[in-house]
Amino acid sequence: MTVSPIGREIDRVDGPLKVTGSAPYAADYRPEGLVYAYLVQATVGRGTVRGMDVSRAEAAPGVIAVFTPFHPLPLKSPSGESGENYSALQDTAVRFRGQIIGLVVADTFERARDAAALVSADYTVTPSRTSLADAGPGVPQGLVQKLAPGVSSIDAALASSPVTITTSVSQHAHHHIAMEPHATTAVWVDDQLTVYCGAQSPQRAAATIAARLGVEPAKVRLICRYTGGGFGQRSPVWNEALLCAAAARALRRPVKLVLSREQVFTAIGHRAAVRQTIRLGAEADGRLRALSHDSDGELPAAGGWQMMPGRDTSAVAYRTPNIRIDQRLVTLDTPPTWSMRAPAEAPGMFALETAMDELAVRTGVDPVELRLRNYATEDPVEGHPFSSKYLDECYRVGAERFGWSRRTALPRSQTDGDWLIGMGMASALYPAWRQPASARARFRDDGRVAVASATSDVGTGAFTMLAVVGADELGLPVSSIAAEVGDSALPPGGVGAYGSSVTTSTVPAVQAACRAAVKALVQSAVDNPRSPFAGLAPATVRYRQGRIEANGRSVDFRTLLRTMGVPHVEAVSTSAPDKSASQYKFHCFGAHFCEVRVHRLTGEPRVNRFTSVFDVGRVVNAKAARGQLTGAIIWGIGHALLEADPIEPDGRFAAASMADYLVPVHADTPEIDVHWLDRPDPHISEFGARGLGEIGLVSSAAAIGNAVFNATGIRVHDLPITIDKLL
Ligand code: MOS
Repeated sequence: MTVSPIGREIDRVDGPLKVTGSAPYAADYRPEGLVYAYLVQATVGRGTVRGMDVSRAEAAPGVIAVFTPFHPLPLKSPSGESGENYSALQDTAVRFRGQIIGLVVADTFERARDAAALVSADYTVTPSRTSLADAGPGVPQGLVQKLAPGVSSIDAALASSPVTITTSVSQHAHHHIAMEPHATTAVWVDDQLTVYCGAQSPQRAAATIAARLGVEPAKVRLICRYTGGGFGQRSPVWNEALLCAAAARALRRPVKLVLSREQVFTAIGHRAAVRQTIRLGAEADGRLRALSHDSDGELPAAGGWQMMPGRDTSAVAYRTPNIRIDQRLVTLDTPPTWSMRAPAEAPGMFALETAMDELAVRTGVDPVELRLRNYATEDPVEGHPFSSKYLDECYRVGAERFGWSRRTALPRSQTDGDWLIGMGMASALYPAWRQPASARARFRDDGRVAVASATSDVGTGAFTMLAVVGADELGLPVSSIAAEVGDSALPPGGVGAYGSSVTTSTVPAVQAACRAAVKALVQSAVDNPRSPFAGLAPATVRYRQGRIEANGRSVDFRTLLRTMGVPHVEAVSTSAPDKSASQYKFHCFGAHFCEVRVHRLTGEPRVNRFTSVFDVGRVVNAKAARGQLTGAIIWGIGHALLEADPIEPDGRFAAASMADYLVPVHADTPEIDVHWLDRPDPHISEFGARGLGEIGLVSSAAAIGNAVFNATGIRVHDLPITIDKLL
């Protein structure tokens, strides 16, 4: 009897390869004849390249070619692909400091890098627009409004509320800091291109590369079997990878381009800076009458992701008769932006949950009780019921595990020596998204079943998810499943690794593919003349735990395939959400509870402990789920206390290196108690998984900020919460 692996603590199937350094990443491929490229980036914030001197670089040892706007590599303009809105080297415009203006190719990495330093450029410089504050209100994008009958405007609803709160918060640019810096190895064989490059969607990335190089989609294969972090930054293809592939075509040699850590900060998109204002109108007992959420997000002239922090947050979180969400974008001459893990939800919920804490303070209602008084059972704007929502249970279980009842509402009322102790909480939510997805299951004559989908494992555990679900469906041990992802040549229809949607979308496809493959195996067993089951009716043959059985005979599939002389039997299946799903609002929920200490004399804030409880539907792998949720909460520590990259008036990032841009390390990270309610979502799929990659990052920063207020009585509105703001 095989025990189902679903929901258990399963080790990563790719773990041993990764920890022994034998999992190949994009820069690890070394095809015959490989040469090396290095970027040259603009050193002014905005303007035009008047001329470039490449003579010293061209004369440097080992240099093969120097490409610039004056000697470009041909690339098509983007048309609908995501990411930057221009192709590098096709014109002399400088849109931001750090834009690629050259690519040097040499016989070694070091020689390419040294020669790149010998390239000089003359510019005509024009002033950069770099400050959200100076640029004023942006261009309105996504107005969401619902007003109760008879209410003329959100301002009227706020004005008539007994209690009002206005809270403005801001945050600078954030960076993804994926463990694997961006790298590409491009190999042409005749007119067929293989690109090794980390990607969140191998098929979408391959299609983009084909379009931008002007070749047939079928001519490009993208391999990202191992990808060292995505976080949104690897959903588009950036100019660097396109140039690498174009250089390989021009030079008729494989080319590798590895970005330095510093180059990733500017050549690859960051999370947009954003300023937000929340206005709440409430009854004296804290029940909301009105919620207004305004935002101004950075949108670079060079292209970027549209920062809409109110859409899946304030429009969903609380029962409110009047809601207005006005999301505006401000054009700046900054490096491109892109989505970054809980891209809009983390900043949006920081704003809302900070304001909710201020409302709790003002009304004297306990923060948990305040949220229960405003509990939404349906989407407050559209009126759709939530498919499944146990957030109230998250509050209860979380408060109990954390010891919330020991909190005192009065700031500075708890101390431990010179440390002020504070407790805070916040609600989390993140949209659940099921996409149509495809998978393939293949019984192989080596006794294993390959389960494949053209999605990507960006470190989240997708390999293991495929193996666990395949093993469960087929009644086999996890070790009998060979999981495959990260290759655009896999059957079409794999989902991109974004929006916390891979598990939600892919599990039903894997289940369908396994069922179809079993059917195909049975059919093959009755059709094949060499099979011991030849001639039987398929209905009399059954599959059980890797064995084919009929008439008292039982043969394992490996033996059967070998007996039949068939190397494998497979099926590909696609699975899409049910039409009835459209009547529901699908969201994940959670509750964070956090204790901080702030030093009375130095203002140093530290996180003491964290408890978070989530309602995310059914969980495939408890170990991977805990890793995802814990990692995201740690990211929330960065969001609250450490991460920021202000931009200088000349367009230069102030912290474009890991020496300057701070992320949480072990010393910043306390014991984190992560718990989830195991409640399958009955409407999202038969399996009931709703996704959990990003929700941990949503509101964890707000819980910290609220705890800092409870400790100190100081409300910090401009992130990160640093020592200088607590004195
Ligand atoms: Mo994530 S920002 O959906 O890659």
